[in-house]
Amino acid sequence: MSTSRIAGFYQLSVEERRTRLLKELKELEQTDERELDTSLSNAIETWESGGLSVKTASQIVENVLGTYALPFGVALNGQLNGIDRLIPMVVEEPSVIAAASNACRMIRAGGGFVASMKGSLMIAQIELRDVPDTQEASRTLLARKAELIQAAALALPGLVRRGGGPQDLEVRTIGPQHLVVHLLVDCRDAMGANLVNSAAEKIGPLVAQIAGARLGLRILSNLADRRIAHVEGRIPTLSLLSKQASLDPSLRSFKAKEIADGIEAACIFAERDPYRAATHNKGIMNGIDSVVIATGNDYRAVEAGAHAYAARSGTYSPLCTWRRQGDQLVGKLALPLALGIVGGTLRVHQGARLALAISQATSADDLALLAACAGMASNLAALRALATEGIQRGHMSLHARSVAIAAGANEAEVEEVATTIAAAGIVTLHAAKDALSALRLCRE
Ligand code: MEV
Repeated sequence: MSTSRIAGFYQLSVEERRTRLLKELKELEQTDERELDTSLSNAIETWESGGLSVKTASQIVENVLGTYALPFGVALNGQLNGIDRLIPMVVEEPSVIAAASNACRMIRAGGGFVASMKGSLMIAQIELRDVPDTQEASRTLLARKAELIQAAALALPGLVRRGGGPQDLEVRTIGPQHLVVHLLVDCRDAMGANLVNSAAEKIGPLVAQIAGARLGLRILSNLADRRIAHVEGRIPTLSLLSKQASLDPSLRSFKAKEIADGIEAACIFAERDPYRAATHNKGIMNGIDSVVIATGNDYRAVEAGAHAYAARSGTYSPLCTWRRQGDQLVGKLALPLALGIVGGTLRVHQGARLALAISQATSADDLALLAACAGMASNLAALRALATEGIQRGHMSLHARSVAIAAGANEAEVEEVATTIAAAGIVTLHAAKDALSALRLCRE
């Protein structure tokens, strides 16, 4: 992206937004002398159809009746490791995309997201039951590590050709006569569930034989703690002020620090209370899941891994923390993120392919980092709202739009009906229908 800041984007019509976004992306591909991603050429059709035909859907899962659409949008203002990035998001909740865009703008003011992936390995678990001597079995298994890794590699010739494959093997004792072998596999640009499951099934019998044990489960672990996305964001506290705040300079700086302290306090609440941490993390997952779903990745796997990681110390904790350091607010986020940019849903879902093209992700890790940035942005936006005006005002004005649509307002009427009911503080279908009738009477 030349720039992910597109002024007034939200005020454009859907058609204008599409044209503007595609123009940016096509220009970028020309500048980079890349071949135009085919999903971009079919973008309009994909947005109209949802990207998945019923025929294809019925080849993916069972008992298909149809397909199910969700809003597909884009968060602006993202900057990841110095490069401007658009963030494709698929989500049904109002204000998530707007809030992420807004928070990305604040983080951008401090230099953008600085992110890196620690590790790139998926874990395949091979469970061993009734192990006669766990210490002896562990020793023998580790002594034959190279042989086992080689045997696992034979199950993954394609992955090995692409430069990935099994890298290491570990043994854990989890109970009396109970061992788990972890085969660590570099899955390159795939999420890797099928790959690691195949490898585990392939070497399971040999592992059990070596340990003199009964073979148990052979399956990946979604606690992908060898594939952790780390993101840091530094926000000049002044950037936390809303655009409208017309205060004198000394008051501005005071007010900005007050907001930063409020965000830090909200974070400490989550650090001390798992009930709050769950909601804090839900706000993070608003951003992450939206990118994960948009790009056809397995959001249940990501959710399972995120929450297991959040509880790794024995106390369920926030995945993203915030502290004020002088006139900067510093956010740090870490969570397991095993995403893919090849295979799976991406093979068949045009919408997912289009989202991937918009993300400009260069690798699975790069996409994971972008999703993690969306998570940090969503968390910042939520805490900022909670620490200042509360969450309901912003939520309500967007919710009012959905209610206005449900009441039958057309494109030219939605805004006015929504504003009327939101201003009255009565966001109900009944109120929206009344407001719509009144508006139509006025316009007659
Ligand atoms: C709502 O989808 C998410 C929030 O509840 C997150 C939070 O409380 O931090 C606003």
